[in-house]
Amino acid sequence: MSNVTNEPRRRSVKAVVRGQATSDGAGVSLVRLFPTTQLEMLDPFLLLDAFSSNDPDDYIAGFPPHPHRGFETVTYLLHGNMRHRDSSGHEGLLRSGGVQWMTAGSGIEHSEMPQQEDGWLSGFQLWLNLPAAQKMQPPRYQEFEPEQIPLEEPGDGTLIRVIAGTTAGGVSGPVTQCATQPLYLDVTLPAGGSLHQPLPVGHNALVYLIEGRLSIDCNELLPGTLAVLGEGDQLEADAREEGARFLLIAARPLHEPVARSGPFVMNSEEELRQAYSDYRAGKFGHIVA
Ligand code: CO
Repeated sequence: MSNVTNEPRRRSVKAVVRGQATSDGAGVSLVRLFPTTQLEMLDPFLLLDAFSSNDPDDYIAGFPPHPHRGFETVTYLLHGNMRHRDSSGHEGLLRSGGVQWMTAGSGIEHSEMPQQEDGWLSGFQLWLNLPAAQKMQPPRYQEFEPEQIPLEEPGDGTLIRVIAGTTAGGVSGPVTQCATQPLYLDVTLPAGGSLHQPLPVGHNALVYLIEGRLSIDCNELLPGTLAVLGEGDQLEADAREEGARFLLIAARPLHEPVARSGPFVMNSEEELRQAYSDYRAGKFGHIVA
């Protein structure tokens, strides 16, 4: 006897976005995949930026001190180094292949500055929302060196760097976040290779193609594009003859009201006003030189 409700449901591609070239911080050139007029957010994801340049003028000015409250920022570097400092005295050097998962919570002021004068800097910054009950929690860091990120190598040329969540092969990443149960994978497929990854029903999911060609449900993605996946319980992604490298990111939506302004993401306009007023009053502290 077969039970059709137990059949795996493959995720389709609901939308493909290219993002917008822009600059942020003190003049860092980047591509903002969202928010844009095309895609405002994908609960609980609030923002995704991709940066990649060999020209120091595109990145050297970095992100001088600025505050955050109410959500998490995730920085993942593919190439280069970034020095991070914050108002609580925390300091770290993010290296190529390393990740910094920062829960801003009630508020920090931080700076993110490229630690190199030339060469290639590339990577991503993702913002994830926090539920109302955790927006004012104390700030928390989950930082991992490149060597601390588990690598799954099934032996067919596939490489999966597991930052958060668990792969079909049972490898789990070091980052944990109960509220949104994120999955964050950096996947490299050989020519003709495939990824089959379970994705919880109801979780929102994204695929960003870094290089190569990737086909999902008959949609061929080009490098630099972001696919928003439809409903289902698994992803099947197939690399073409040039292979493919991509990020697969998914998480449980919060279904809460979102009020956002610049570096603050709260549930109401009143809470946003409070964030600005607390920051101006010095309640976040400041980076000490
Ligand atoms: Co920041």
